[in-house]
Amino acid sequence: MLNGKKIVLGVTGGIAAYKAAVLCSKLTQKGADVHVIMTSSAKQFITELTLQSLSKNPVYSDTFDERDPSVVSHIDLADMADLVLVAPATANMIGKMAHGLADDMLSTTLLATMAPVMVAPAMNVHMYQHPAVLDNMNTLVSRGVMMIEPGEGLLACGYVGKGRMEEPETIIQVIEQFFAEQKQAEPKLLEGKKIVVTAGGTIERLDPVRYITNDSSGKMGFAIAQAAHDMGADVHLVIGHTDMAPPKGIKVVSIQSAQEMYDAVLDLWEDSDVVIKAAAVADYRAEHVASSKIKKSGNRMTLELVKTVDILEQLGKLKKSQFLIGFAAETNDVETFAKEKLVRKNCDLIVANDVSTAGAGFRSDTNIVQIYDADGLVEQLPMLSKQEVARRLLKITAERIQGVYS
Ligand code: CTP
Repeated sequence: MLNGKKIVLGVTGGIAAYKAAVLCSKLTQKGADVHVIMTSSAKQFITELTLQSLSKNPVYSDTFDERDPSVVSHIDLADMADLVLVAPATANMIGKMAHGLADDMLSTTLLATMAPVMVAPAMNVHMYQHPAVLDNMNTLVSRGVMMIEPGEGLLACGYVGKGRMEEPETIIQVIEQFFAEQKQAEPKLLEGKKIVVTAGGTIERLDPVRYITNDSSGKMGFAIAQAAHDMGADVHLVIGHTDMAPPKGIKVVSIQSAQEMYDAVLDLWEDSDVVIKAAAVADYRAEHVASSKIKKSGNRMTLELVKTVDILEQLGKLKKSQFLIGFAAETNDVETFAKEKLVRKNCDLIVANDVSTAGAGFRSDTNIVQIYDADGLVEQLPMLSKQEVARRLLKITAERIQGVYS
């Protein structure tokens, strides 16, 4: 349930900050991609290094410590998050959130995010019962912030009462339940539609022990297949070279070469409503595949390569009622090349990205895409998790095919 979820974990300055380490570790073990923001008071209780080691991501605390000139960190974190969790949340941070203050990295990110927000308060029992704090918490709840209420127990200050941060295990259960409900509530926009998604790279053999492939991880295609499945579609996933396990509960066809991918997609083509070509298909293959291992000879070697079938282009020619989506992975002149591919391959949409940009590369968990149709730019998305890119792309697809089918 948490696999691939981007969780921004805000840690504020209370004794319960040590529990944030357990929380961070358990979330990461469950496959979440955790990005920690600490307040300066939190650093009095726990070190950045601890949370960096546990999350395997850089820890942020200073709004002005911009390490990557291509992004503004607090906006970047705010945009990419599937969930922002503040744990522990002090009375001070709750007050700042309630009143819209933005005087540090965490409070600024909280103001900038459109993601769901959860807050696990931790404070002294009298602070917890103070009308100001209660008012602030009520304000946050009325705005949709989810409070993970502290249990009663012995507080670090010696009192017994409410104010202790909820145990990390319980917080994780709440988060898992939240994502499960979110998934169930996902509108079944693609109910009854047959969708073919291709993912990963192709393998073009040279001999029995060598091949040509590329850096595609399959993550984008897998995210699309999963999101289409969640939206009620009947999904076939045609997979080439990838070292990741495909999402569960989806019909998978495994192939190696571009030709095999073409054959697999053609088998499904007539019945399909939407075909999404997220795979990175080799453009060339060996003219002759050696039947035994090629032996070394001389100081140079020349490989004779011939063009592979352009699957998308062929599908574009065969297209009747199918809705065809291509991808364009570019390193320069993204818009020009993407539009040219859209026309040449007769796609309904093309998803373009600059793979040389941080956060948009082949192996990344995030992507930064622009979606074009024949009239031009449909949507320019900020850096988002590949899951969120997939959801947005499929929402546009659902709107477009509803027009065609109704
Ligand atoms: N594609 C395909 N068959 C190929 C090559 C590409 O179906 N033999 C598809 C990809 O799956 C993708 C789209 O075409 O959806 C664009 O792929 P890309 O590699 O960006 O473009 P190419 O047409 O290969 O052009 P170039 O390599 O020159 O950029």
